[in-house]
Amino acid sequence: MTTVIDGKQVAASVIDAVKAASQTLQDETGIKTGLAVVIVGNDPASHAYVSAKSRMAKECGFTSVQHTLPEETTQEELAALVQTLNADESLHGILVQLPLPKHLKSEPIIQSILPEKDVDGLHVVNAGKVATGDLDGGLVSCTPAGAMVFVRRTHGEDLSGLNAVVIGRSNLFGKPMAQLLLAANATVTIAHSRTKDLPAVCHGADILVAAVGRPQMVKADWVKPGATVIDVGINRIAAPERGEGRFRLVGDVAFAECAEVAEVITPVPGGVGPMTIAMLMANTVIAAYRKAGKKAPKF
Ligand code: GUN
Repeated sequence: MTTVIDGKQVAASVIDAVKAASQTLQDETGIKTGLAVVIVGNDPASHAYVSAKSRMAKECGFTSVQHTLPEETTQEELAALVQTLNADESLHGILVQLPLPKHLKSEPIIQSILPEKDVDGLHVVNAGKVATGDLDGGLVSCTPAGAMVFVRRTHGEDLSGLNAVVIGRSNLFGKPMAQLLLAANATVTIAHSRTKDLPAVCHGADILVAAVGRPQMVKADWVKPGATVIDVGINRIAAPERGEGRFRLVGDVAFAECAEVAEVITPVPGGVGPMTIAMLMANTVIAAYRKAGKKAPKF
């Protein structure tokens, strides 16, 4: 029987652990965990994500601060806000929602967040710590951290002897995911658009992670029987069966056919997606514990 991972349920269990950890920190030290979320401009999808993050932070018992800046905000104004948030002792995490409006450069903004408050895990210091295997010192970016929760709950902490293939080599996901799998002793291949015979490479994977942004690209005959398949893609495709002009979300994996071959598989939606916010909350409470000089919980 194939197990379809319920990302909402796993995310809820992480959130329960975050709530307990933030309550313990407050009881023991009087410190309330604080998260600042910054959004610039009017993109409706970004506003929906940011509202969900701010709401979840409140639900976790955090101080939740949202800064909503107008589209015409300048680079200097945004940089100045980040400096203010860096200096605010009551805030342990800062997230600047991406993408920024076109006239703003995101990279200098992200790199100006103090690494210890970079709960997105996007600062080069945090990326570097993941790359060097220092997983307890930095903050791991949320989507790969969430995908690793599924991997650990399926295979345990030690992936010795297992082959993992990550399709996609982005700095945001593919590279850190591969590094996390490697740190857990998997034998890791990063595949990408220039890989020769991608189906054959994928067929060697005990753990197959797809993050390419191509709807339903991974087919059943790419999947090793009994493999764990983690789908990080979120693609909107036309769904005329739902009515004219309607869409539905699919992953990078052809779910129904791959579910017949895999032993464990994540759906889209409802797989990796819900984990991203949960791991953001986890990173924020981890940052608060470290600031208080206490050993941070693991999620
Ligand atoms: N936009 C879409 N996903 C994310 C994310 O995880 N972090 C940030 N900062 N922006 C995003």
